[in-house]
Order: sequence, then C-alpha cells, then structure tokens
Amino acid sequence: MRIIVAGTGIAGLTAALHAQERGHDVTVVTKGASGDGCTRYAQGGIAGVRGPGDSAAQHAADTIAAGAGLADPAAVETLVRSADAALADLIARGVAFDRDASGQLLRGREAAHRHARIAHAGGDATGAEISRALTDAVRRAGIRVVERTMLVDLHEDAGAVRGVRLLRDGKYDDLDADAVVLATGGAGRLFSRTTNPEGTTGDGIAAALRAGARVSDLEFVQFHPTVLAGGDPFLLSEAVRGEGATLLDETGRRFCLDVHPDGELAPRDVVAQAIARQCALQGSPVLLDATMLGARTLARRFPTIDRVTRERGFDWSREPLPVTPAAHYLMGGVDTDLDGRTSIPGLFAGGEVARTGVHGANRLASNSLLEGAVFGARVARAMTEPWPVGAMQASAAAGSPASEHLPLSTAAAPPAFSRAALQELMSAHVGLLRSDAGLAHARQTLHAWAATPLPLSTLADHENANLLLVAQATASAAAARTDSVGAHVREPALIGV
Ligand code: SIN
Repeated sequence: MRIIVAGTGIAGLTAALHAQERGHDVTVVTKGASGDGCTRYAQGGIAGVRGPGDSAAQHAADTIAAGAGLADPAAVETLVRSADAALADLIARGVAFDRDASGQLLRGREAAHRHARIAHAGGDATGAEISRALTDAVRRAGIRVVERTMLVDLHEDAGAVRGVRLLRDGKYDDLDADAVVLATGGAGRLFSRTTNPEGTTGDGIAAALRAGARVSDLEFVQFHPTVLAGGDPFLLSEAVRGEGATLLDETGRRFCLDVHPDGELAPRDVVAQAIARQCALQGSPVLLDATMLGARTLARRFPTIDRVTRERGFDWSREPLPVTPAAHYLMGGVDTDLDGRTSIPGLFAGGEVARTGVHGANRLASNSLLEGAVFGARVARAMTEPWPVGAMQASAAAGSPASEHLPLSTAAAPPAFSRAALQELMSAHVGLLRSDAGLAHARQTLHAWAATPLPLSTLADHENANLLLVAQATASAAAARTDSVGAHVREPALIGV
C-alpha cells in the first residue's frame, strides 16, 4: 500500500517505521525539517516504567483520575498495557534512556502519578533523544522524507481518503495514497503564550474538519503550569516539582496546598488554574522554588533547564524562578478508534492531532509520548485490515464552525484579522479561565473574521486559515460545554469583555 504520513514527531515516525516494516511504500511529509515538532521539546519523559508496587492498573487509574472521568477506559487500558512493548521498541530503535549504575531505567515522578514511572533521557531532554533516535532510524530504513512541505488538504473519492494536497516552495502537489496518517501535532499557536514550536498551527485538525472527519474535545486545552515568565515561553518540567520543588506566592506561601492536598503535585489542570488565579490576584508571576535541590542535582538532572535559565540570567540553585502557565497540549482532536482509524476510511490519526480517548479532560503528565508510540504502531498494524463498516460516522458538514449561525454582534467592529490578534483573542477569552461573555465575544469575532476569505497563497496564509478554523471549532466546543471539567473552566464572574 502507498502510505503518506504527515508529521515527524513520535507518532508519525513510529507509524512510518512500522508501516515500512510491514512492506508498505511510505512517504513522510513534514512542514519543517525531519524531527521538528513538539516531540523534540518534551522534557519530563515517557510514562510507563513500572517499579516495585506499581502496576498497569494503577497507571490506568491515575490516567482516568487526571482526565476528570472523561477518559475512555478502553483506550486507557490499551495505552498502559502497551507501555512495555512501546518502551522496548524505542530502546531497540536506539533511544538511550537514563539508567542507574546497574543498568536499570531511572524513573522520575510527575504530578498526579502515584509512583515514579517516567523514563527520561539526557535528564530533561527526553523528547530530543527520542526525536534523534527515530529520525536516525527512519533514515537508516531508507524511508522517503519530504521536508519543508505542508499538508494542505485531504483528497477524497467515494467517501474515502485517497491522497493529499501538499504545498512546497510555493507550489501545490497532489499525491495519491491508499492511506494517510495525520501526525501533525496540536494547535498551541492558537494562543499567545505556548510551549509549542512555531509550526503548531492545527494543520491536521483543520484538514480533517474540512474533509468532514469527526473532531471532538477541542475545548480541552492543557496549560502547563510552570513556564518561565518573560521572553520566549520556556518549559520548566513538571519533573522539577516531582523532585521536590515548590510553588510560592509573593509572600513565600505554598498556595497550591490551599486547593489540593497534593499541592504542587496535584493534576496539571488544578495547578495551572491555581497559578493563573494567584498571578491575577498578585499581579505578577508566581515562583518556582527549586533551590532546595542544590546546584549539583539541578545541573545533573535538568541540564537543559539549567543551561537555558542561566542563559536568561537566573541562578535557580539560589533563587526561585518566575513562572506563569502557557498553552501546552490539546487533549481533543480528530476522533479515532483504538487503532487510529478516523471517521473517514483511509484516514488515520496518531499523536496530539488525534483524540484517542486516553486523556479525557486533562492529560496525565508524560502520557503523550507514550500515546504517540503506542498508537503510531497500532495505526501501522491496522492499515491492511478491512475498514470496519460504520465504525465511526463522519460529521455533517453543516455542523462545521464556519457554517454555524451566530447572532450579529452589537459591539464595535473587530480589529482586522492577524495571527497575533487571533492569539490575543483566544488567550483572553478561550484560555485557561473562560466566561459566557468572553466566549460569546470570541466566537463573534472569529465569525466576523471568517466571513471574509483569507488569502491562501503562502504557507503562512494556509497556517492562518487553519488557525482560524480550529479557533472557531475550539471556541464553539468551549461554549457548548457549559460546566467546568478538567482543563475546561467556566467562570461566571469573569469580566472585562
Ligand atoms: C513536562 O516535562 O512537564 C512536560 C511533560 C508533559 O507535558 O507530559
């Protein structure tokens, strides 16, 4: 079969390797260079290494609890039961995880995990190591990788996906395929402050929406609690808190203990919301205090963070670091079954672009690399199986956000569309804390922007159109979920629209 994989994070590269080993003719396309994308920025690690007293059942229970009851138990079961095989596969492909003197994998701890079960590499450079090893493996395997090429749209015929439209060097190219795997990552660039790299513009989700594939849970956007304040957002891994660092308000008080008995190691949504409220209250970032870990431990365990914070003028062994939350991960995405099949025959999805059901309303830390590895391999296995009849239904085009009817706003005309304006709007009104009025304002503004077709000649134009479409779908999903759950928080008292 001719397979096109869009994206070179852990899910895309894993799917490509497994598909080629099954005899398929694989082409990988990526908007940047191979290995660009979010995987390479993952610090904390990959969950699933079980130590004494731990079990797959406990990992599943922690995942479901963090997901605020909205995770799909069958998907979670699939995830945790496949962890051993996924980790073994990564190691066999050359990923050098950190080990102790006797050769055992070292296990870190992160929030809402009851045990230390996170494998890491290079201390806090896990994603970079996975990305390096898988990119090398793809090169060794001779898989065709087409770089600096954007997936623009999906081609369909007789209700099935049959190929893709690509954009490269300003020219469109149509490629036929028997199956297409979306592994294009999430949409962190919907927001002004994000840990995601520049190309994270929701391209796969937008293409799936335009094709009528079912997309869900877009309202569940995870904000990482501890991102260095000021300048380019830089992630300060949750593993730092897993090692004992604390979060302090301006008076030096551990305010997270007010909201959850696990304090700084409460689920990520709880900590991020507590920080956002505390920042608003005191009008400044809160502080991540890792001084108790000492300079030597910090440099050894977190070499990347140690280097970058020092480059930015901080000595975190002597002073706490100012932090605020930033958009980090999208729990929702293109709906898939347990083998990555979407609602359109021939179209698969894996990694952050997909909504497999493992995360519910809030992802448990370090489950995403595991999800990419597990479901990337499952996608490749499912390719030659007959498409189950009626397994998932495509969404009706009439339900797409671009076609929905919104009442005309009586407010002043919105500012002209720009990517920065969209990011500001989404951050202010569809971010960590959301109100009825804010969501209504955001939807009306997005709707007004969408009423005039955006130019579509350059790659940046296509990214902007994708951001606008995904923003509309996200704001609509957020408005439709009127209760607060997990990462989706409705605050009746928010003002300022
Ligand atoms: C982190 O290291 O805190 C990020 C890990 C994750 O997002 O799962």
